[in-house]
Amino acid sequence: MQEIKDFIEANKERFLDELKELLRIPSISADPAYSKDVARAAETVAEQLKKAGAEHVEICKTAGHPIVYGEKMINPNAPTVLVYGHYDVQPPDPMELWDSPPFEPVIKDGKIYARGSSDDKGQMYMHVKALETMINTGTLTCNIKLMIEGEEEVGSVHLTEFVKENKEKLKADVVLVSDTALLANDVPSITSGLRGLSYMEVEVTGPNRDLHSGIYGGAVANPINVLCDMISSLIDENGHITVKGFYNDVLEVSDEERAEMAKAPFDENEFKSELDINTAHGENGFSTPEHTTIRPALDVNGIWGGYIGEGAKTVLPSKAHAKISMRLVPNQGSEKITGLFTEHFENIAPPYVKVKVTAHHGGEAFVTPTDFPAYQAASIAMEETFGKKPIPARSGGSIPIVPMFEKELGIKTILLGFGLNSDAIHSPNESFGLFNFYKGIETIPHFFHHYARIKGNVEV
Ligand code: BES
Ligand code: MN
Ligand code: MN
Repeated sequence: MQEIKDFIEANKERFLDELKELLRIPSISADPAYSKDVARAAETVAEQLKKAGAEHVEICKTAGHPIVYGEKMINPNAPTVLVYGHYDVQPPDPMELWDSPPFEPVIKDGKIYARGSSDDKGQMYMHVKALETMINTGTLTCNIKLMIEGEEEVGSVHLTEFVKENKEKLKADVVLVSDTALLANDVPSITSGLRGLSYMEVEVTGPNRDLHSGIYGGAVANPINVLCDMISSLIDENGHITVKGFYNDVLEVSDEERAEMAKAPFDENEFKSELDINTAHGENGFSTPEHTTIRPALDVNGIWGGYIGEGAKTVLPSKAHAKISMRLVPNQGSEKITGLFTEHFENIAPPYVKVKVTAHHGGEAFVTPTDFPAYQAASIAMEETFGKKPIPARSGGSIPIVPMFEKELGIKTILLGFGLNSDAIHSPNESFGLFNFYKGIETIPHFFHHYARIKGNVEV
């Protein structure tokens, strides 16, 4: 596979320049003000796919942002890999915390800094360049279909419809996704699980208008105070979520499996010092890595109401709001949890306020087996390029479309991510290591090689 290394080495700078071009486009799917940029990013991805050698490249319109599709079918007897990625990004705010502008990529200390560099433009683009590499070195051994969407960060609503309507077109043996992280650059890993998600918004209303906090304060319930009480009651002193019925369906992980997971290197001190916290904090009886993988979590993502401008304004506000996410583990249905939360939150509301609960997007948790051909191929590929056998590791993030692929297409997904948790995805100063970018481009062709070999039917 020396030819792969050589081709990447010879084209290194150009690969990076092309990625930068994509990173300059503010394809923020959540904000309608950027929908033209999102469309421009889709066109750029389509152009880049064509240049890489993909055929039948098309921009598929949806009721939301478009999906870019392309393929290279080489042999009807060879296995087919469906690559999935996303070209949309999270909003960059808070802007003032970026050291350099989010859509003007800069290289510093061996990393490329820009919104989307790791999540997921940089990782998605590794596949485009891996395809180009395989075509140019004559090492493409599988049929490949690529589907790059523009709504992952807003719940993949239209992709779900697209998948349901295009089952034949998307037929494949496995889905390959690079949108997760390695444990560390010297601890290669394959993501073996994702958490599910229920995302809620709550509104608490007290009096019918904002009041003078002197004239009324003390006699009328303040919805912000009440919301804070309600929120703080959602997690008890043992770190348990108090939503009635919340743990009923949780799949407990066996002691053996926990012991196996605990073998993955994890440095609690490094974790604390990287985040500048004195101590980690979570559910009693579980370790920090377990808190973020095999156990659910409930977090307030935003809270607002009343006066937050300069100086002081004496006001007893009429309304208070919060956005609350719940990360779920296997077997906890997202819709069921959404229902339980709604019921619980309405039940705990004291009589002096009204509450309104609405649901945003959600998705199911996912676990992947470690004994099927795609996992074996990924494991050997990483061992070859990292010089170390990767370990399976569950992740705490969510990619709701992954369990959907299994449900709608009956295809398993292999999560071959090359980011790092320290990439600061969704945060200011997001970055992606150049080591990771090139290592991904190199590892993907190795995966294809071994997948064709293990899955069978073709000589490699
Ligand atoms: N790529 C992330 C998910 C991720 C990151 C999984 C790191 C594992 C490790 C994805 O783009 C993402 O941000 N997903 C959202 C969910 C979505 C419905 C908005 C998330 O996890 O918050
Ligand atoms: Mn992502
Ligand atoms: Mn994301």
